[in-house]
Amino acid sequence: MFLENATVDSVTQIGTNVFLLKLISEKIAYHAKPGQFVNIKVSDSDFPLLRRPFSICETDGDSFSIMFVSIGGGTSILQNKQHGETIDVMGPLGNGFYLNDDFDKAIIVAGGIGAAPFPFLIKELVKSGKEISCFTGGRTKDDCITYEMKNVSIATDDGSLGFKGNVVELLASKIDPPERGKNDKIKIFGCGPNAMLKALQKFCISNNIDGDISTESSMACGFGICQGCPVESTTNKDKYLLVCKDGPVFNVKDIELP
Ligand SMILES: Cc1cc2nc3c(=O)[nH]c(=O)nc-3n(C[C@H](O)[C@H](O)[C@H](O)COP(=O)(O)OP(=O)(O)OC[C@H]3O[C@@H](n4cnc5c(N)ncnc54)[C@H](O)[C@@H]3O)c2cc1C
Ligand code: FES
Repeated sequence: MFLENATVDSVTQIGTNVFLLKLISEKIAYHAKPGQFVNIKVSDSDFPLLRRPFSICETDGDSFSIMFVSIGGGTSILQNKQHGETIDVMGPLGNGFYLNDDFDKAIIVAGGIGAAPFPFLIKELVKSGKEISCFTGGRTKDDCITYEMKNVSIATDDGSLGFKGNVVELLASKIDPPERGKNDKIKIFGCGPNAMLKALQKFCISNNIDGDISTESSMACGFGICQGCPVESTTNKDKYLLVCKDGPVFNVKDIELP
């Protein structure tokens, strides 16, 4: 983990209220793994007081990017950053996706801004020769993010684009029942709101498909000190795991989402 004064390279709008912030930090870019995150002090002033966590979306030489939806005080400050400004960034943090399993086909499932960690993951999966299918969903077409995705299928709750329904229902409709269970060469990677991740956990477990999910929690320190980001462990009911340190990526079988 590094504490860096990262220099802003660019802020680019890539969708309705969705932005890519490219930051130059050789140390973070070189050490990052897909699924890890950075914790950003968005301004030098007292507001907002706490750092804001963001997945590492992609790396490129000595720089890395985050993808964010401008949703509140912190992200609206990030949206207005200018080339050459510096930002206090801590990272890379957390564990990242587990890529050493024996799988041939990767299925990416994203809900809204849950698409953020996947460009980096997809690049790694391509390097290792995996087959990739992507499923992305949102409430309306404006909430669906397809940035850097491959073989994309889209779901919207209101039917304004693609399949009408949620992204896990779309996934279930595309994986033929006879294929389920016996196809142990598939691995699913999910990120999105908790309701979506819970449905995805259920789908993976009931169809005997392995999966990693990247979770969110409100955070303060970002590296295991404040105990502010607990999530219930399924393997030990008396134990809480920390999203920032034990996650944010967990196997679908390992946690009970709130
Ligand atoms: C490990 C991790 C990785 C993350 N990666 C990303 C990422 O790559 N891109 C990204 O855009 N966000 C990501 N988030 C969420 C991001 O940190 C928050 O969206 C951000 O802190 C919002 O800051 P803000 O100051 O703009 O909003 P605030 O002013 O803090 O909040 C504004 C409003 O948005 C609501 N809100 C805040 N965060 C969320 C949320 N996550 N979901 C739903 N409502 C929310 C608040 O309740 C409030 O109503 C991640 C969170 C975690 C824990
Ligand atoms: S945010 Fe402090 S322990 Fe996780």
